Amino acid sequence: MSLADTTKNNPMSTESKLPPVSIVIFGATGDLVWRKLAPALYNLLLNQQLPEHFAVIGIGRKNESSDEFRLRLRDGANSFCECGGADEKTWSGFAPNLSYISGDFADPATYAALDKQLKTHEKKWGTPANHIFYLATPPSIVGTIVKGLGAADLAQDKQRVRIVVEKPFGHDLASAVALNAVLTTVFDETQIYRIDHYMGKETVQNILAFRFANVLFEPIWNRRYIDHVQITVAEQVGVEHRGAYYEHAGALRDMIQNHLIQILTLIAMEPMVSFDANEIRNKKVDVLRAIRPISKEQVQEVAVRGQYGAGLMEGQKVPAYRSEPGVATGSSAETFAAIKLSVDNWRWQDVPFYLRTGKRLKTKASEVTIQFRPVPHQSFPKAAALAWQPNRLIIHIQPQEGILLRFQAKQPGSTLHLSPVDMHFSYQEAFKSKSPEAYETLLTDVMSGDATLFMRADQVEASWSVLTPILNAWADLKPVDFPNYQSGTWGPEAADVLIAQDGRSWLQPILREDQEGNQAQRSIESTSAQS
Ligand code: BG6
Repeated sequence: MSLADTTKNNPMSTESKLPPVSIVIFGATGDLVWRKLAPALYNLLLNQQLPEHFAVIGIGRKNESSDEFRLRLRDGANSFCECGGADEKTWSGFAPNLSYISGDFADPATYAALDKQLKTHEKKWGTPANHIFYLATPPSIVGTIVKGLGAADLAQDKQRVRIVVEKPFGHDLASAVALNAVLTTVFDETQIYRIDHYMGKETVQNILAFRFANVLFEPIWNRRYIDHVQITVAEQVGVEHRGAYYEHAGALRDMIQNHLIQILTLIAMEPMVSFDANEIRNKKVDVLRAIRPISKEQVQEVAVRGQYGAGLMEGQKVPAYRSEPGVATGSSAETFAAIKLSVDNWRWQDVPFYLRTGKRLKTKASEVTIQFRPVPHQSFPKAAALAWQPNRLIIHIQPQEGILLRFQAKQPGSTLHLSPVDMHFSYQEAFKSKSPEAYETLLTDVMSGDATLFMRADQVEASWSVLTPILNAWADLKPVDFPNYQSGTWGPEAADVLIAQDGRSWLQPILREDQEGNQAQRSIESTSAQS
């Protein structure tokens, strides 16, 4: 999102203007590095978007050589890079910049070895470099690493040193506050980049452009015209090999606390005065502070949880969550959550925001639906308006990326019949290029020092505050009906009831073919969550 970096995502660019950098990844033998960071870094190199002088230093407790580390990163690039895999020539330019230090995070010798390595690079390049410490580790280890970096004087330079912290950012409000306190004993807030990869998605960032670079939508973006907002992040995958983590997280912590609430803030925030990281973050925090606190007694009315049972996913049998590796047979972890939030301010009073997410749902689709109010007076004869639907704006975040506007049109013919039709903007069709992967965007932003897309401490804490009553209520009262939805459906029936009690229903994404025969997303009215 950096304005200064003119080369980014520019197919014409031949060279990045980013300053020299050493990226130090703690937890370098983990899944995130293999699956996300390695392919993103490789693709950035391929597109000439890494600085001329760069190094990646992996640190982990595992006894591994730099050659083994390189092999694993190459495997990650081969398996997950949008580019289709690492080619020999580019890889041979990449590999010499990768190295691995094996060491205990609590041992000062680890940081001494790191310091030595950082200095070696700078000596070779003949110039000081920025240092990015990327913590791809569980939150429980963050304090140890931060202290280690502080004690080794590796965090002192406020301009050149940055720290990136992966989610989960705490387990609840108290642990997030404690984590922020630990980080700020050594780093300034300006050095801290709390990552939420949804903010790196092109369509999520486009919400700001759509709202504030056009004159058409902002005048109707309020309670006078909008009936309600739905934010859905539906996944087809199950918990995969992350059962042990998920048992302590659940969908509310794993998805809603960060990804869905971030999307909500972009939809609900007031216009920013300037395109400045703190200005945008201030506006987002204002939204979080305006979310109506939920009392313990209200939790049942505004929050629903679910857990998947066995079922069929596209014709294939899949196991129940409780049969996944690392999961307790009587687990209470929710793999589905739906909540209703109210934003108490002039713009959004009485406009509910319905958020839902789940694993093993029918379709993979992330989207935001803005449902507008009915026309104030229906002038057309009843028979003409039988198929009438309210206006709807759907922001497709993934897998297709685009925006759909639904409005009424007259059906051709001598009889007057109204019918809903769609105007569709597709990123791929409009720009004829693939959007960068979220991690590519976010890594570039950290390298250029642009914190706009990253969470500030108060944002994270405000988000936990919103969810604390639900977390507490769910912890106090174990679910008795789990598993309560079959894999391959739209979640538990209680989620239908949550929205139906307000006289509304979920809008289910369905797949359609676009003009080129690719599958594209479209939304229709839901009939039942189980359908
Ligand atoms: C992660 C969650 O943050 O986001 C995962 O921990 C989830 O459980 C993933 O599967 C979804 O991300 P995406 O980009 O595939 O929608």
